[in-house]
Amino acid sequence: MNIVITGAARGIGKAIATKFAAEGHTLFLCSRSIDTLQATADELKKKYTSADIHLMKADLSDKKQTEKFANWCLQIAIPDILINNAGGFTPGNILDEPDGSLENMINNNLYSAYYLTKYLAPQMKIKRSGHIFNICSIAALQAYNDGGSYSISKFAMNGFSQNLRHELKEHNIKVTAIFPGAVFTDSWEGFDNSSNRIMEATDVANVIFACTQLSPAAVPEEIILRPQLGDL
Ligand SMILES: NC(=O)c1ccc[n+]([C@@H]2O[C@H](COP(=O)([O-])OP(=O)(O)OC[C@H]3O[C@@H](n4cnc5c(N)ncnc54)[C@H](OP(=O)(O)O)[C@@H]3O)[C@@H](O)[C@H]2O)c1
Repeated sequence: MNIVITGAARGIGKAIATKFAAEGHTLFLCSRSIDTLQATADELKKKYTSADIHLMKADLSDKKQTEKFANWCLQIAIPDILINNAGGFTPGNILDEPDGSLENMINNNLYSAYYLTKYLAPQMKIKRSGHIFNICSIAALQAYNDGGSYSISKFAMNGFSQNLRHELKEHNIKVTAIFPGAVFTDSWEGFDNSSNRIMEATDVANVIFACTQLSPAAVPEEIILRPQLGDL
């Protein structure tokens, strides 16, 4: 299958890329930093020789770069799976965070997925098949300390996912929103996870892979994934 994974250089995106590379799929990966992305792609190519891995530097908070990335993917193949994972977390409170915080979070966490989907999904529609995953967060479902603009952007991502699911079901394209709680990635730099208090990126990757194994009749619309002991 042809699988587009955004923000695949590190963290959850890298774990998802690793899972699908191990199954020998064709991957289209992007991130803003080419060095880390290249290192990830080299690692996967060496370990999983049957996988076909393409990579491109792209900052998906920039609409033009998103369009360029989408066109580059489409020149090679129409995606069977699109995983909108790229995003970032900046803690803050609405009244204290710097001016521009909401714009940054919306650009990075919502417009990235919104525009990439707008550019790729029409081709998937013509093919009448596909599966789109949107990595939201539990911050898309409830307010919490230091949520601020990040939480607002993820609530919007949830709204995007629900509307996309509604629009695409008749076109035989599945849409799944994933709502992870804390996952041990660079976003949790400095956190001591020696007791496995929070989840691993592979947990999210394994859930996404499992979703792709269902019959054509079934779509997991929403998946909430939490650490066993609950949120921190
Ligand atoms: N970790 C958690 O606890 C957690 C919980 C719930 C949801 N999430 C969500 O899961 C997703 C991945 O999080 P993570 O923890 O794996 O983050 P991470 O470790 O910081 O990795 C983020 C990845 O996305 C890329 N990226 C970020 N902004 C980008 C942009 N504008 N354009 C292209 N690539 C971009 C990064 O590479 P470059 O820096 O090179 O661009 C990196 O590869 C995010 O959407 C996040 O909100 C994470």
